[in-house]
Amino acid sequence: MEREKIKEKIAQMTLEEKASFCSGADFWHTEALERLGIPAVMVTDGPHGLRKQDMEGDHLGVNDSIKAVCFPAGCGTAASFNRELLVEMGEALGNECQAEGVSTILGPAVNIKRSPLCGRNFEYLSEDPLLATEMAGALIQGIQSKNVGTSIKHFLANNQETRRMSSSSEIDERTLREIYLAAFEGAVMKQKPWTLMCSYNKINGVYAAENKTYLTDILRNEWGFDGYVMSDWGAVNDRVEDLKAGLDLEMPSSHGRNDALIVQAVKEGRLKESVLDAAVERILNIVFRFEENRDRTVVFDRNRDHELAKKIAYETIVLLKNEEKILPLKKNASIAFIGEFAKKPRYQGGGSSHINSHKVSSVMDAVSKVKDSVMITYAKGFSADKDELDETLTKEAVKVAKEAEVVVIFAGLPDSFESEGYDRNHMGLPDCQNILINAILDVQPNTVVVLHNGSPVEMPWAGRVKGIVEAYLGGQAVGAALLDILLGTVNPSARLPESFPLYLEDNPSYLSYIGEENRVEYREGIFVGYRYYDKKKREVLFPFGHGLSYTTFVYSNLKLSKPYIEDTDTVEVSVDVTNTGSRKGKEVVQLYVSDKESTVIRPVKELRDFAKIELKPGETKTVMFTLGKRAFAYWNIQLHDWHVETGAFDIIVAKSSKDVCLSQTIMVNSTVKLPMIYTRDTIFSDIFSNETAMNIVKPLMALEIFDDSKEEDSEVEADAIGKEMKEAMLKYMPLRGVLSFGSSITQEQLDEVIERLNKEVGNL
Ligand code: BGC
Repeated sequence: MEREKIKEKIAQMTLEEKASFCSGADFWHTEALERLGIPAVMVTDGPHGLRKQDMEGDHLGVNDSIKAVCFPAGCGTAASFNRELLVEMGEALGNECQAEGVSTILGPAVNIKRSPLCGRNFEYLSEDPLLATEMAGALIQGIQSKNVGTSIKHFLANNQETRRMSSSSEIDERTLREIYLAAFEGAVMKQKPWTLMCSYNKINGVYAAENKTYLTDILRNEWGFDGYVMSDWGAVNDRVEDLKAGLDLEMPSSHGRNDALIVQAVKEGRLKESVLDAAVERILNIVFRFEENRDRTVVFDRNRDHELAKKIAYETIVLLKNEEKILPLKKNASIAFIGEFAKKPRYQGGGSSHINSHKVSSVMDAVSKVKDSVMITYAKGFSADKDELDETLTKEAVKVAKEAEVVVIFAGLPDSFESEGYDRNHMGLPDCQNILINAILDVQPNTVVVLHNGSPVEMPWAGRVKGIVEAYLGGQAVGAALLDILLGTVNPSARLPESFPLYLEDNPSYLSYIGEENRVEYREGIFVGYRYYDKKKREVLFPFGHGLSYTTFVYSNLKLSKPYIEDTDTVEVSVDVTNTGSRKGKEVVQLYVSDKESTVIRPVKELRDFAKIELKPGETKTVMFTLGKRAFAYWNIQLHDWHVETGAFDIIVAKSSKDVCLSQTIMVNSTVKLPMIYTRDTIFSDIFSNETAMNIVKPLMALEIFDDSKEEDSEVEADAIGKEMKEAMLKYMPLRGVLSFGSSITQEQLDEVIERLNKEVGNL
C-alpha cells in the first residue's frame, strides 16, 4: 500500500489505537482494526522450519505446533557455504508461510559463535561475520522472494544464554563493528529484511530494546533499514524509551499495560506523537506488503519439502577425517552401525526453533530402503538421551563391532546438553559415548564416528578413528542424506563454519565467557575463532573452513586484475580450480585477505569472500571475485569509519583458515589521511616520520641530549650509552620530556611549537 494511504489510515486512528498497534494482539499476531480495514497478521518461528502454533502460544517450544518440515539448523546450513542452496531453502519456507498465512518468519539468527558453549549455537551460523551475513542474506532473499517477511535476529551481541535477559555485553567499538554488527550488516544492507528482532541483553549497559545507537543511528540511518523492529519475546524494558530508540513492535502482547504507558507519555509531552506515528507506519507498511501479496494458491507440500531438506542436508554434512579412504563405505563389506542416534537421530535443537516434524528419516530407516544389498548390522550401544554407561549395551556393541569389517558409530549430544535457554558447561560428549567409542576402537580399527551436535565437541579419540563425519543437526531428512554420503552416492562438500578447538580452554573467550553476574566483557575483542587461533599459532582439532571430499581439487593461476589499487578501487581476483580426482564433487573456494604491514593490531587473515562450484572429474573452472575497500579495511576508532592503511596485502586462496593454497600481493594506497593531533605527549618518533614536523621541532632539539658532538668528547659516556641506544630511547620520549632534560626552553615555547605542529602538519 502506498505510503500516503497508510498515513491516511494513521490520521484516522485515535491515540489509543495507535499505541495498541505497537504491541502484539497475542503471542503471534499483530493488532487488527476492522474500522480501517487493517488485518492482523501472524509471525512464526523460524528459522529452519515453521513453528506455527494454532493453539496455546509460547516462546520456548513447549506447546505443540502444526506438523511442518524441519530443515537443517543454522549450524549445518552455514556449513554448506552455498548461497544458492539457502535461497532455495528460503523459497520453500516462503511458500510454506504463504500456504499457512504467516506474514513473517522469525529468523535467520546470525549471532556470532563466540564460544562453543552457547546453548543456541546450533541455530546460529558462524564465528565469522562474513559467512554469517552472506548465508543469512541468501535465506532472506529466498523467503522474501515469496512476499513473506523475515526477522533477522537477535540484534545485538546476544552470544550466550546465561542471563540472556539481563546481562550486559561489554564490547569495544571496533569489535562491535568488525565482528558483531558485521554479522547483520551485509544481510540488512543487501537483502533488506522486512523486520529485525532486537535481543534481550544490554550492550554496554543499555538494553538492546532501548538502544538508539543500534536501532536507529546504525540500523536505519547508516544501513538504510526500512522495515520494523520487533522485540524478542519479552525483551521490552521501558516501553516509552524503547519506542524513542526505534523499537516499533513489542512482542508478545503486553495486554494493554505498555500501550497505556505510551498514551500517557504522549499526553504528558514526554513522547512526540510523531515518533508513535512513525512506528505504526513502519508496522502497517509490512502488514500490507504481506496482505496485498498473499498467494492463496500455494500449498504446503510437506513431502516435496522433505526432499529439499534432504538435498540441503547433503551439503551440511562435513567430512572431517578420512584416513585410508575408509569412506565411502565399501558396499560389499560387512558394516556395523552403532549408537542409538542411528535409529533416533538428533536432528534439531530445543527451544523456540523446535519443529513438529511431519516425518523423520533415520539412517537405519534409509538402510531398509537401499535396493542393492548392503550388509549392515546394528547395535544400540548407548541411550541417546542420557549419559549413562550400560554394560550390557556396551558388550553387545563391542561384539557386533568385532564381527564387522567396518564400524560407524553415531554419537552426539543429547537434547538436554544443548538448547535455547542455557549454555553448556563443558565441551565434551557424554562420557558413556566416549567410553563406548574407545571400547570399540580397542577391537576394531576400521571405525568411523558420525557426530550429531550443534556446536563443537572435544574428541579425545580423534587420533584413533579413521573417519569423522560432522553431521551437525541435519533436519528431518538427515538419515537418508547421511547414508548417501557414507555410501558415496553423494560426495560431501560442506566446510566447518567454525573452528573446533582441541580443548574448551583454548577458545579465546574461555576466561570471560559468561562474565560475572550481569556483565560480560568481550575481552578477546576481534580475536574470535580462527582470528585468534591463527594469530596465536594455536593448534586446533579442525580449523574453520575445513572439510574433505571424495575427490581432490587443485588450485592454480591466481591472478589479480591490478598489482596496485587506491582504497576506493576494486580489484578482480581469479583462480582456476581443477577436479583432479575421479568423482564429481563440489569445492568451496575461500578467499582471505591479510594486511602485511599494519600498524594496527589485526588478525593474520580474514575471510573476504567464498564460492562453491561443482566440477566433473578432470574439469577446470575459473572462479572470479571482486574485492573492494571493505576487504582491506579495519574499523578506525578515531575516524569512526572503515579505514585502509597504505601498504601491501596478501590475497589468499585457501581450503581452510589453515590450508593456504595460493597467494598474491597487492599494494593498496589509502586516500584517507588519519587525523594527527600533536600534544605534549606526542613522541619523537612520530615527529621524525614527518619532515615538516621535524623542522618545526628542531629548535627544541638544540639540547644537550640531542647533541652528538658532546658524546664524542667523552669516551666513558659513549660506552655507557651509544648512539643507537640514545636514538631508541629518544624515540619514545614525549615532547614534554624536553622540559626535564636540562633544556632552557620554557613551557610557553613548547606550547607554541605544538600549536605550530597542529596548524602546519596536524589534520583534524
Ligand atoms: C527467542 C526468539 C524467538 C521468540 C519467539 C524467544 O525466546 O529468543 O528467537 O523467535 O522467542 O518464539
